[in-house]
Amino acid sequence: MTFEKHILCIGAGYVGGPTMAMIAHQCPQYRVTIVDINPDRIAQWNSDVLPIYEPGLDELVKATRNRNLFFSTNIEHGIQENEIIFVSVNTPTKTFGTGAGMAADLQYWEKTARQILEHSTSPKIVVEKSTLPVRTAQAMERILNTSQNHVRFDVLSNPEFLAEGTAINDLKNPDRVLIGSRETEEGLKARNTLVEIYANWVPREKILTTNIWSSELSKLVSNAFLAQRVSSINAISALCEKTEADISEVARAIGTDSRIGSRFLNASIGFGGSCFKKDILNLVYLCRYYGLEDVADYWEGVIKINGYQQERFVRNMLTAMFNTLSGKRICLFGFAFKANTGDTRESPAIYVARRLLEEQAEVVITDPKALDNARIDLADARGTVHFVDDPYEAARGCHAIAIMTEWALYGELDYARLYRQAEKPAFIFDGRNILDPRRCFELGFNVFSIGKRPLTHF
Ligand code: NAD
Ligand code: UGA
Repeated sequence: MTFEKHILCIGAGYVGGPTMAMIAHQCPQYRVTIVDINPDRIAQWNSDVLPIYEPGLDELVKATRNRNLFFSTNIEHGIQENEIIFVSVNTPTKTFGTGAGMAADLQYWEKTARQILEHSTSPKIVVEKSTLPVRTAQAMERILNTSQNHVRFDVLSNPEFLAEGTAINDLKNPDRVLIGSRETEEGLKARNTLVEIYANWVPREKILTTNIWSSELSKLVSNAFLAQRVSSINAISALCEKTEADISEVARAIGTDSRIGSRFLNASIGFGGSCFKKDILNLVYLCRYYGLEDVADYWEGVIKINGYQQERFVRNMLTAMFNTLSGKRICLFGFAFKANTGDTRESPAIYVARRLLEEQAEVVITDPKALDNARIDLADARGTVHFVDDPYEAARGCHAIAIMTEWALYGELDYARLYRQAEKPAFIFDGRNILDPRRCFELGFNVFSIGKRPLTHF
């Protein structure tokens, strides 16, 4: 079979896998290949157990794999054979040297750029899918244009806005697709090629085109605004706990103002995930680099409140449980950074578990999809940690249950049974506000929710 276009994606992660599976599914006329340096990851993509859990992903991959979607470790061959190359490698926070703890670590991304340069013998459109500091495309162009063999490269920015847990729907029905390019004749032509790919299923009015720097910056700003909403509502949750205002009522009252909007106002134990923190740190670093100290401080506040909220949660547990957690058994319901994913990167549960261990509590962790990652995250933690699949088994004999992840299943458990099995006095700390506090209180629990008056029996 001959294909209309040959598309490559370098980086078979949470973004590369689902985005390319969606393109392959929506565009059977294109051949899509995903490559990665990690052979285990590629083997998993080619197996029955995919490397990531994402609702709807298995079906998509099954329908397209080895038809027009291929997973491979042969990066060199992939670069040679494909004319459109998405780069979706990881861009974590730098851990060394200048900018350590703040700037994006661009080593994986630069390695990829050099590989593309080395193995290209025909013109390529190179698409930045990873989240990158503004003006990275310029560096990419500089590397690619050192070519001795005069291969033409056009660099585009096409940041990804999917959220984990809802990735397939986000990709199928995106609020928008953003494509940034140079505004030269060649840049606009390359941009148009990418627009035509998405136009196979995304309405044209949702495909936004901008200059390349606006596109790069918009991705960082989008995550910063989203995280800022979470930190804003979480900051107010602390005030609610002091004043007997109720955060759910406040969120509803402000969220019905159409200028504010109701989404992303769920007070919580804090945001996690691989991107919010790293992207804001990156934004802060960029602001400082350009001498914009006040702007940097403003955005840094979003991260500070997130750390404050997590520590506040642990302190509340400590205070409520008579100022000692030593020797107490505490069960964490959920370890993933949000529901419907097995991803635990930057999950607030990691911080809470480590802090509880520091307080010499015994920690029992349960999660329907994230236990393997939880084991890795806590491999070096000192103290007693148990990983248990069944939530009733996990909670048996515990002094407290702390809800870390808003999995629907935790809202549906038999809390009367959980109370019977609990050590008394029994506590629930609902870090996601998914339970009915009054009902749990009436069953006998002492209930501490986020941003609400505690309900206690003493
Ligand atoms: P990930 O760690 O899951 O995947 C990245 C993959 O790239 C890994 O499998 C790694 O082995 C591979 N890789 C690294 N260097 C390589 C190289 N030189 N050649 C081939 N493969 C290489 O990361 P992710 O979550 O998919 O994120 C990728 C990018 O997308 C990041 O910049 C992130 O900020 C951005 N992003 C992530 C999400 C998300 O929900 N996870 C959403 C939007 C944007
Ligand atoms: C986020 C963005 O929503 C995506 O648009 C973006 O593409 C992605 O980051 C990225 O760049 O990686 P994601 O981190 O997968 O997606 O999930 P979100 O739904 O945004 O949740 C992030 C964190 O905020 C989670 O820990 C979640 O529990 C928390 N959150 C979210 C709250 O505490 N309250 C809310 O009201 C919403």
